[in-house]
Amino acid sequence: MQEIKKYVADHKQRFLDELFELLRFPSVSADPQYKEEVLKTADFVAQKLRDAGADKVEVCPTAGYPIVYGEKIIDPGKPTVLVYGHYDVQPADPLELWHTPPFEPTIRDEKIYARGACDDKGQFYMHVKAFELMMQTNGLPCNIKFMIEGEEEVGSNNLGTFVQQNKERLKSDVVLISDTAMISMENPSLETGLRGLSYLEVEVTGPNRDLHSGVYGGAVANPATILCQLIASLHDENNRITIPGFYDDVLELSQTERDALNRAPFDLEDYKKDLAIEEIWGEKGYSTIERTGTRPTLEVNGIWGGYIGEGAKTVLPSKASAKISMRLVPNQQSDKITKLFKDHFEKIAPKYVKVKVTPHHGGEPVVTPTDSVAYRAAQKAIAESFGKEPIPTRGGGSIPIVALFEKELGIKTVLMGFGLDSDNLHSPNEKYDIANYYKGIETIPLFHKYFAELSK
Ligand code: BES
Ligand code: MN
Ligand code: MN
Repeated sequence: MQEIKKYVADHKQRFLDELFELLRFPSVSADPQYKEEVLKTADFVAQKLRDAGADKVEVCPTAGYPIVYGEKIIDPGKPTVLVYGHYDVQPADPLELWHTPPFEPTIRDEKIYARGACDDKGQFYMHVKAFELMMQTNGLPCNIKFMIEGEEEVGSNNLGTFVQQNKERLKSDVVLISDTAMISMENPSLETGLRGLSYLEVEVTGPNRDLHSGVYGGAVANPATILCQLIASLHDENNRITIPGFYDDVLELSQTERDALNRAPFDLEDYKKDLAIEEIWGEKGYSTIERTGTRPTLEVNGIWGGYIGEGAKTVLPSKASAKISMRLVPNQQSDKITKLFKDHFEKIAPKYVKVKVTPHHGGEPVVTPTDSVAYRAAQKAIAESFGKEPIPTRGGGSIPIVALFEKELGIKTVLMGFGLDSDNLHSPNEKYDIANYYKGIETIPLFHKYFAELSK
């Protein structure tokens, strides 16, 4: 541990400078306008892996953005850790809400502000620097493989094919991912599950053209009004989702499991204060921890139609649309839920409009084992570097690759994230605490050490 701390202390500034370089690339995978920048980011990551000592580094083309691969095999007889991360980021808009530009990383109050600071550039880059540290201090105790992709934020559509075509190359004993959050520096935690996702778009069409709202209003159904009514009907008075069959496959937790999860520290007053809300909302009968970790949800991510420019325009829109996501829990399946939604939405649409449901992408929910060698290694690593045993939690977000690795390669994942829920992922002013960045770089070599030791 002393040697690790010393190496980090000796290279502190450079570790930060390199992360800043990485954060300056606007690698927004959702927006084709950034294509060149996304490609440049992949090259940058590949070069940093080479510099750190990785072999066989390759920027592997896919039908979309490339996957960066690299490895260091010290002894085929030793266990292998596959590190997964993503170099793409979410769009930065709304830009006017950022206090400093999203792709000009800035430090304020010991925090790095930039798009991707936490999700996931700051987090995956800790693994690159921890790898460098292990190489330079002769401390790499097991084989390591890196797979850093560029399409996570848009659904990892080309990753399945890559994994299928590279089974031998990716063969490993565990997948290690830092792309989730922990409770706090004082209460370190390990996520032991992620939710799945079904994402789709709905379009409601009324009259064949936009109409004068005075001439036609009141006599022709307004698609925006109908869309709102349809969406509102998707939750009942207990905030449960009304799609028939939606909860059929949901694995209910035992009271013991629920009690264990609810023992995690959580302060409702702080939560409300942080979000500036008077009251919380959610499915009746469940705590906030359960609502965000173990229960499925349906959310509108965006809704539009009609005139949204400056000033007023009196118009009855021809169309209105919304983007809807459903977070899924074990044992729900994204394809099945997408179909249930589509059938239901088409069925409840009134005669005076037409509806169209277009599925986007999905991902399956997972729970990760807590009785494995890898999980114990993560527990020991965190206990040593934070001085406190990690608390197991369930994450509300989704990383579709986790279920895919399990299905295609039969490998389980350890989610050792160092972010915080308050890091503003996908929001303006995304940040990552400098302390968490360095703490991660110190903790990761301990994971490899204990994983190698406990695997013997
Ligand atoms: N890193 C997040 C997922 C995450 C965040 C998990 C916080 C746990 C806690 C990831 O980059 C992400 O945003 N995933 C998307 C899904 C994807 C298919 C677009 C998500 O969860 O919305
Ligand atoms: Mn992420
Ligand atoms: Mn994300």
